[in-house]
Amino acid sequence: MSNTIAVGIQWGDEGKGKIVDLLTPDVDIVARFQGGPNAGHTLVIGGEKTVLHLVPSGILHDNTLCLIGNGTVVAPETIVEEMDTLLAAGIPVNERLRISDRCQLILPYHRALDAAREAAKGKAKIGTTGRGIGPAYEDKTARRGIRLIDLVCPELNEKITENLTWTNFILREYFKVPSVERSDVDAVLELARQRLLPLMDDVTLILHERHKAGDSILFEGAQGAMLDVDHGTYPFVTSSNTVSGAALAGLGIGPNMIDEVLGIVKAYTTRVGAGPFPTELYNDSGMDDASGRHLAEKGQEFGSTTGRPRRTGWFDAVVVRHAVRTGGVTGLAVTKLDVLDGLPEVKLCVAYERDGKRIESIPADAAMLEDCTPVYETLPGWQEITFGARSAAQIPVQAKALLKRIEEVCECPVTLLSTGPDREHIIHLQG
Ligand code: GDP
Ligand code: IMO
Ligand code: MG
Repeated sequence: MSNTIAVGIQWGDEGKGKIVDLLTPDVDIVARFQGGPNAGHTLVIGGEKTVLHLVPSGILHDNTLCLIGNGTVVAPETIVEEMDTLLAAGIPVNERLRISDRCQLILPYHRALDAAREAAKGKAKIGTTGRGIGPAYEDKTARRGIRLIDLVCPELNEKITENLTWTNFILREYFKVPSVERSDVDAVLELARQRLLPLMDDVTLILHERHKAGDSILFEGAQGAMLDVDHGTYPFVTSSNTVSGAALAGLGIGPNMIDEVLGIVKAYTTRVGAGPFPTELYNDSGMDDASGRHLAEKGQEFGSTTGRPRRTGWFDAVVVRHAVRTGGVTGLAVTKLDVLDGLPEVKLCVAYERDGKRIESIPADAAMLEDCTPVYETLPGWQEITFGARSAAQIPVQAKALLKRIEEVCECPVTLLSTGPDREHIIHLQG
């Protein structure tokens, strides 16, 4: 099996967890390279659901090494809670997981800053997951972040004092909210010392050695291309690069280690949080199109991390083409086809219109994108049930026509088709 980067190519929640878990038996290593506990990756095995935020989605498999790379931001309490849930379910997580010595820690003051900023923005808020992601990546880039390795460095106390003094000043004086207690930070650091230091390793070195020995690697992205800090709908994005290129810097590997890029994409579109969404049909703030409600209800579109209702809309090929380009995507895994079952017709946005002009690519400015109207192609729907289908023969001709059109307009072959949340609900296609 080749080395594959699996990335989301819409606004997150495309079904990355399911696809990564499903492909894990073909690889030796699964590695996360960016993002943090803003991610919520769902795995369903025999009807039993597991939601992972930081632990890679290969963790349920024996003989698979799971790695968390330097590009990620790790919240000690979240990962320890996740590890405890897995341990209670009989998964020997300590044997299977290694965390980069260079990864950044999310500490309580990052979450306080995230919350204070969002509250201050009021209606203009980004709608972050509130997990402290932005402030943690800011500290990293500002070169004051606390990395896992810092837990064994003598200067840690001093660094924390400096960071906390600065953050508390901003919280108190600018945002007029309470400071973060030093004891709360120390408690998290102590937890990290006890539970994460034993798993700390040079992840880059492990990858290079295992690659040389012939092992294969699956790289697991978080979020999606449209949430990428450079290529997404800035500023309504997350604070990391989410495109496949981030796997290289986020793990310390070169492009020569990569064979394939799998773009994971829903058969429609969802978004959680604020920001432009041209094909939007349905949301909890007043948009109530019947097809959009069908997608939200049948797709059970609620955030895996925050439980917030997701906004829903038709498949947007302008978005997916942009993502295929920015990610060098070589194949598509189309998920949630079954959610379209029963719709009288299905729409596909192939371009936008703005000021009477046809637009085929994503404008750089969020306000301009907000201003775009979708140009739709309408295809016939189907009344057959595809839920749980495991062979192409079970897929109605109308659904096949939709997939063919997706391949054409996105300029990328569909290699996997997901027909339900369970690991078994999958069809491998030739592409
Ligand atoms: P991720 O963040 O990309 O891993 O995606 P999430 O786990 O946040 O959201 C995807 C949701 O869709 C989860 O509840 C999955 O169990 C579910 N899911 C994944 N693939 C399918 C599918 O093909 N059909 C249906 N009905 N549900 C799916
Ligand atoms: P997975 O990996 C969907 C969104 C938030 C918000 C924006 C910024 O499960 O696909 P942040 O907390 O990162 O600063 O929030 O990004 N967001 C996600 N949306 N799926 C995710 O992860 C997301 N991670 C962040 O809703 O709009
Ligand atoms: Mg998710």
